Amino acid sequence: MIQTMEWTDRGVRFLDQTKLPTEEVYVTCTTYQQVADAIRDMVVRGAPAIGVATAMGIALGIGNSNAENVGELKQELDRICDTIAQTRPTAVNLFWAIRRMQEKFERVRVRPIPQIKQTLIEEAQRMHAEDIAANQAMGRHGATLMPASGGVLTHCNAGALATCGYGTALGVIRAAVEQGKELHVYADETRPFLQGARLTAWELMKDGIPTTVISDNMAGAMMKQGKIAAIVVGADRIAANGDVANKVGTYSVAILAKEHGIPFYVAAPFSTIDMEMPDGSKIPIEQRNTREVTHIAGKQMVPDGVQVENPAFDVTPAKYVRAIVTERGIAQAPYLESLQKLAQEPAHVG
Ligand code: MRU
Repeated sequence: MIQTMEWTDRGVRFLDQTKLPTEEVYVTCTTYQQVADAIRDMVVRGAPAIGVATAMGIALGIGNSNAENVGELKQELDRICDTIAQTRPTAVNLFWAIRRMQEKFERVRVRPIPQIKQTLIEEAQRMHAEDIAANQAMGRHGATLMPASGGVLTHCNAGALATCGYGTALGVIRAAVEQGKELHVYADETRPFLQGARLTAWELMKDGIPTTVISDNMAGAMMKQGKIAAIVVGADRIAANGDVANKVGTYSVAILAKEHGIPFYVAAPFSTIDMEMPDGSKIPIEQRNTREVTHIAGKQMVPDGVQVENPAFDVTPAKYVRAIVTERGIAQAPYLESLQKLAQEPAHVG
């Protein structure tokens, strides 16, 4: 399985996703500030991976701390969490991970400092293992929704690279293929950062899953030609009513799916579901550097001085979502009730 990230004695080791698909390079972050930079610069990206990277960054920062008492250590924890919280606003997994690490700290703060440090390292490693188990469970549930054969379109990268392994949307596809379903993946290239062309294609090729890359504006034509039997994407944040924030362009795909009568599925772990967010209208949308739009591989593509927008995500209303696949089972409309019901199921899988 692809190692997106790994806890090591030297620090947190990431497969540098900015270099894929042409170079397979690993970087080791030895400070929490370096982990924050790796998240901001998308060395590591994808909501579940961002969550676990956050936990590992916190564990690393606390592990490196020279605090002499628990009060000082708590101040250090707050500083670390504030720094990482500034990196990427849309993926709720980041804030879920901060909260989980803070709660763990509070539960063990009466212990000696070396023990607190060790506990936080173990918690981050547990979250890593849980993420893979959740993806495998999602795969088992979601595979039942996939056709026996045919094209499945996905947007961005919701695969092993966006998680600690196996993937969410690509986990569903992997599980279906493992069950013998004959799927052919259509990967939207996903401008401007090209996660589909660079990352989804790379990891599916490694697994030998037939894949065709299309530019984003070809999706409608592929649907019209009958090449797409189902669509499955990931999510960065799902509101309590089932509205889904995911990579910009997902909304257009969902509308096209509706027009063509193609089921549009979302796969995401519970750490992506924000039950405190009533609907998608208030989900913070990250605005990224416009250079991602104006330049491709360092080459300028638009004239100097023109106005450019670069929202990294959009929100797909729940009415376009046929089902949400989670590690606890499949939710269908009305999502307020179905997600609430699943939220009450036991948290740990695998
Ligand atoms: O900007 P990115 O690459 O972090 O965006 C990733 C996505 O939009 C994914 O679809 C989402 O995080 C789900 S990943 C399992």
